[in-house]
Amino acid sequence: TTTMPGLLERYRDYLPLTDQTPMLSLHEGSTPLIPAPKLSKRLGVELHLKYEGLNPTGSFKDRGMVMAVAKAVEDGADTIICASTGNTSAAAAAYAARAGLKCIVLIPDGNIALGKLAQALAYGARIVAINGNFDAALRLVRQISDEHPIALVNSVNPYRLQGQKTGAFETVDVLGDAPDVLAIPVGNAGNISAYWMGFGEYHEAGRSTHLPKMWGFQAEGAAPLVRGVVVDEPQTIATAIRIGNPASAHLARAAVGESGGLFDLVSDDEIMHAYRLIAQEGVFCEPASAAPVAGLLKRHAAGELEGGQRVVAVLTGNGLKDPDAALRSVEAPRGIEAEMDAVMASLR
Ligand code: F0G
Repeated sequence: TTTMPGLLERYRDYLPLTDQTPMLSLHEGSTPLIPAPKLSKRLGVELHLKYEGLNPTGSFKDRGMVMAVAKAVEDGADTIICASTGNTSAAAAAYAARAGLKCIVLIPDGNIALGKLAQALAYGARIVAINGNFDAALRLVRQISDEHPIALVNSVNPYRLQGQKTGAFETVDVLGDAPDVLAIPVGNAGNISAYWMGFGEYHEAGRSTHLPKMWGFQAEGAAPLVRGVVVDEPQTIATAIRIGNPASAHLARAAVGESGGLFDLVSDDEIMHAYRLIAQEGVFCEPASAAPVAGLLKRHAAGELEGGQRVVAVLTGNGLKDPDAALRSVEAPRGIEAEMDAVMASLR
């Protein structure tokens, strides 16, 4: 076969598989690490973009979901449940469909990007839209999974982080070593924790000479890890990371502390500026994914980004997930007469 096998097969030696684990796959992972020459020049570093938008459902969530759903099948579950700002629900719905499980998702009504909602609908999930934010949805699904025989597939399920750590493996596999800095958006704080676990395991296996500094970036209105307090009413244009009480806060703090890294926040304007600069590299990501690049730009402007380093920014989701954000970020075209004069005039 010319297609790369899925993550369970490629990284089986590093994953908690048994003889009973089904080799579920939608050919997730193997996403490209794309050099960003314009941004590299601007920042004075060697920047690579880990473009997770090219996963089967368009986000990094597929890495964790293939593992969590395979384990749910192994454990005999027939239904999975999750709370989501959108991407987790799309991934859960897809892998549940693939594995023949039922899927229930709780989402914050009105605060989920259009593409993500469309995906969950198309894959056939039962969708419950609550008048509350992600944190409230997560509380509810935790209780439901405690009281009913339904498998919880949010990142508090340890198999999720096991799958997501493969993003770090691929980064080292491609670079031949760990980067100096790993810049990543932080919402519920699972992914930064998973990458740190992956870098650690690969380092122990002799696959890298050092460990990266972990730089986690949150949106200004949803930055509990930067501010050190839970945010009751998180707000940001980057709906994917509109989270005020991250479930894996303790793991994320350990990752940043042990690696000598940092948490920082970026404004919605800084996020959308970075979003456009990333697009000028030919790479289309969703707003949350632009947060780490916004953070690098902010630190560079403050003289706090050491030159010459090798930096990887994880672009967690595809730009097509959130078409509204793209249309709002520029002046959208208006219809004109289908005549040469009108077309030429509009191009002038
Ligand atoms: N980027 C995107 C595109 C996301 O969808 C998420 C999380 C994150 C970054 C943050 O990752 O939560 O591991 O710190 N989305 C979750 C969801 C919350 O429901 O799809 P994290």
